[in-house]
Amino acid sequence: MLGRAGALTAMTHAMAAQANTLNASTLPPFVDPLPIPSVAKPGGMRPLPSSPKINVPYYRLAAQQIETKLHRDLKPARLWGFGGSVPGPTLEMRSGEEALVEWVNELPEQHFLPIDYRLHGAEGNPQVRIVTHLHGGFVPPESDGYPEDWYVPGKSLTYRYPIHQEAAMLWYHDHAMGINRLNIYAGLFGAAIVRDKVEDALNLPSGKYEIPLMIFDRLLTPDGQLYYPISDKPKAPWTPELFGDAILVNGKLTPYLDVEPRKYRLRVLNASNARFYHLSFANGLEFHQIGTDQGLLVAPLAQKKISLAPAERVDVVVDFSNSRGEQIVLKDTSYNVMQFRVSNAKVTDESSLPAQLRPMPKLAESEAVKTRLLTLDEYESFTGEPVLLLLNASYWHDPITEKPVQNSTEIWSFINPTDDTHPIHLHAVRFQILDRQNYEPSAYLAKKELRFLGPRLPPEPYEAGWKDTAGAHSRMLTRIIVPFNSYPGRYVWHCHILEHEDNEMMRPYEIVPA
Ligand code: C2O
Ligand code: CU
Ligand code: CU
Repeated sequence: MLGRAGALTAMTHAMAAQANTLNASTLPPFVDPLPIPSVAKPGGMRPLPSSPKINVPYYRLAAQQIETKLHRDLKPARLWGFGGSVPGPTLEMRSGEEALVEWVNELPEQHFLPIDYRLHGAEGNPQVRIVTHLHGGFVPPESDGYPEDWYVPGKSLTYRYPIHQEAAMLWYHDHAMGINRLNIYAGLFGAAIVRDKVEDALNLPSGKYEIPLMIFDRLLTPDGQLYYPISDKPKAPWTPELFGDAILVNGKLTPYLDVEPRKYRLRVLNASNARFYHLSFANGLEFHQIGTDQGLLVAPLAQKKISLAPAERVDVVVDFSNSRGEQIVLKDTSYNVMQFRVSNAKVTDESSLPAQLRPMPKLAESEAVKTRLLTLDEYESFTGEPVLLLLNASYWHDPITEKPVQNSTEIWSFINPTDDTHPIHLHAVRFQILDRQNYEPSAYLAKKELRFLGPRLPPEPYEAGWKDTAGAHSRMLTRIIVPFNSYPGRYVWHCHILEHEDNEMMRPYEIVPA
């Protein structure tokens, strides 16, 4: 049965309540300073395997088991992180410059989170497997972290990142088939920031005035360990979505940050498995949004609220200069996220918030050589629980059906009959959202007939830039326009709710040479 996801949230909450989890709201907020991940340092220069005369910076990032306190009043938690921290060290990259990263698996042989051995990729394979993907990077297919290219403890893969793309906040994270949700939940991710000359010239707040905020939710046990819930079927522990009540930023529960009364640039990433955030300042302070997933907007956009689906990023400038001495809470609809403590210091702020940022050609529909209609499908058990999610009614192992030609432009239209927004992500490319339109789900289900119930709605102003992940909303047709200006080869596209992705809501696609 093609299903609806009505019971999803209720069920996940019920399971959390049954289990022995910590009520995170009992912990005092704003007692830990916000950690700032270190910047990854290259371990020298190395020749490119393909062109040995060219030397490029080489980084080694090892995934290891670590112990770290998520909150002042908790015991250290077991986590899996790159380079000894969660999030891992930030990769700083320059557009036009290449880098090599050796991703090393130094994890123990056993997983500490509940593997569902029925899921594709998890059956019969070693428990601990990793493969790292640079989300938002346009990289050759052999360096993209294909989900089946995983490797076990003791092994590594060296990936090549020719960064020919505009300044943007990317992120790296695990992508191992069938256990991706568990590996990222354990902590295998970090930021990667691409810079370029256009951005340099804008004189935006930088250095210690540019702060990455990676927000992710977890469920914790009373002694402060990660808890990942399971279904009530011991052989099928997969749960449809993970929602935790412990909101962490850069690895600490509701931390605080001391700031000066001046402008800051915040690079915000939703690194959660499934939670969407709707962020605002409790005192009504504005965000000046300057960028989306794939880089700078044409002009800053003043906003009181920003919404982020899993894997989406937003680049904002916040001006604390009129908030001297204040303590300002950044909050989500139902949770505190963190606190900014504005000092009274006398400061001179020489950074700018220019009125124009970067031109963006708006892609016209007429540039597309092909339109694909793709459904987002959810299947339920007879008790109404989601048991499987597919893209275009196809499994991972079905033959590849999406084969765009290199350097051609296509429109991908997502039909979403489910009750959830599915954040859809394509590897190796950037795209623009064309529009969304409500349609009549029953007519489509019965006769494959698209009966529209309203006008085409343009993307929200905060999405009107280059994107790599976009919310396909419930009962809407969401259209994106995608120039496939990347390397030929096999990549993937998927829903970025990690529980969905691990249970078949991911498909390979192939860019074929022109
Ligand atoms: Cu965040 Cu397949 O990626
Ligand atoms: Cu990606
Ligand atoms: Cu989904």
